[in-house]
Amino acid sequence: MKKSSNYYFSGVDTVALAQKYGTPLYVVSEDIIREKIGVIRKSFLDKYPGTKAFYASKAFLTQRMCKILIDENIGVDAVSSGEIYTALKAGVKPEHIVFHGNNKTFDDLTYAISNHVGKIVVDSMSEIELLSGLVPGLDRKVNLLIRTNPSIEAETHQYMNTARKDSKFGISLNELQDAVKLINASENLHYSGLHFHIGSQLFKIDFYLEAIRKIVARMKEIKDQLQIDTEVLNIGGGYGVDYIEKEKTVDFSEFMDTIVNELNRLLKENELKMADLYVEPGRWIIANAGITLYSVGTIKEIPGIRTFVSVDGGMPDNIRPSLYGAKYSAVVANKADQPKEELVTIAGKCCETGDVLIYDICLPKLERGDYLAVLDTGAYNYSMSNHYNMTPKPALVFVKNGEDELSIRRQTYDDLLSCEIIDEDA
Ligand code: LLP
Repeated sequence: MKKSSNYYFSGVDTVALAQKYGTPLYVVSEDIIREKIGVIRKSFLDKYPGTKAFYASKAFLTQRMCKILIDENIGVDAVSSGEIYTALKAGVKPEHIVFHGNNKTFDDLTYAISNHVGKIVVDSMSEIELLSGLVPGLDRKVNLLIRTNPSIEAETHQYMNTARKDSKFGISLNELQDAVKLINASENLHYSGLHFHIGSQLFKIDFYLEAIRKIVARMKEIKDQLQIDTEVLNIGGGYGVDYIEKEKTVDFSEFMDTIVNELNRLLKENELKMADLYVEPGRWIIANAGITLYSVGTIKEIPGIRTFVSVDGGMPDNIRPSLYGAKYSAVVANKADQPKEELVTIAGKCCETGDVLIYDICLPKLERGDYLAVLDTGAYNYSMSNHYNMTPKPALVFVKNGEDELSIRRQTYDDLLSCEIIDEDA
């Protein structure tokens, strides 16, 4: 039950959170995460046999997040040894991890293999060669997926387009057969299947269908010419979330129905066995599950131009607007019921002109001391946070069933200096 006109997020009064923990503050709703996973379960995992979901942990990874994934039986897509370490430490079973990366080092691969990570997604011929030198003498086979580059020009920000020909990611379709041969030439490597990830923030299904058509044609060639089955097809993540016009957010259920139907049709047409189908959603699970709370400080009105309202965070806790031109929406947490009558620009506090969180948003009249909630900051905000201007990272609170719990404490200035080695006697 709402007790005031404050903005409530996932059943919790955000003004009370800001006052209790200080600002800036990341707030993450376990209820929303589970609701999203529930949709994936109902519309995909329970509906179609042989399907698995691996959460793209680069979007937001903490041990508590892993515990939710364990409980929901969702795997982890890791892209660094650090992400694998976090997942293992939180209790994720190694076989529930897939390991990505365009430049996994010898140490990364050794770490993944010695920890029995489920599948390694090889990204280049050079990586397969590196692995071939690493596994001899192992008492088992290491299961590999090949990340393909299906050469697709998806409509998204150029930094989030990962499958165009001119990309650092993936093995070209023309090299696939050589890659499979190279893998199977090693006694301890096993070709399990193929992977593609077209990009992030995709709203059109056509890109996925185009990739699937290209990949199934190659699966057929691998079967006919090498007599090798492709057991797994991993179609990555990228399912778009609209931060402003929410109705544009990808309907996961509709997307998956179309993808599975087309895949089944193609497999049948090509007399191929049904491959297990994996997805790797990151943003779609976590974006709406997070908000960031700020306190309003300096307000600068430039007559006829704009009014800058500065908050106590910015680029260090959310680099996405300055890096990708990402758009966000916001509400004034302590004035949630007041009319939106003023057009303002929300600026961060960094010593950088580009540190603007939101250009031109209509909000209730703002004053120093108000609390601003920037919405849908769950994905790639905490995980891309940084210390620019020697800014300590904000605290992070989880909310669940109307209760709040501090999950990550606010960093101190000493935390900022904690890795520096300084000789006091010098
Ligand atoms: N799988 C692979 C292999 C990926 O590279 C990615 C994201 C995903 C899955 C998950 O994509 P999602 O479902 O979250 O769109 N920092 C950018 C996003 C970069 C995404 C990189 N790869 C941002 O803040 O928008």
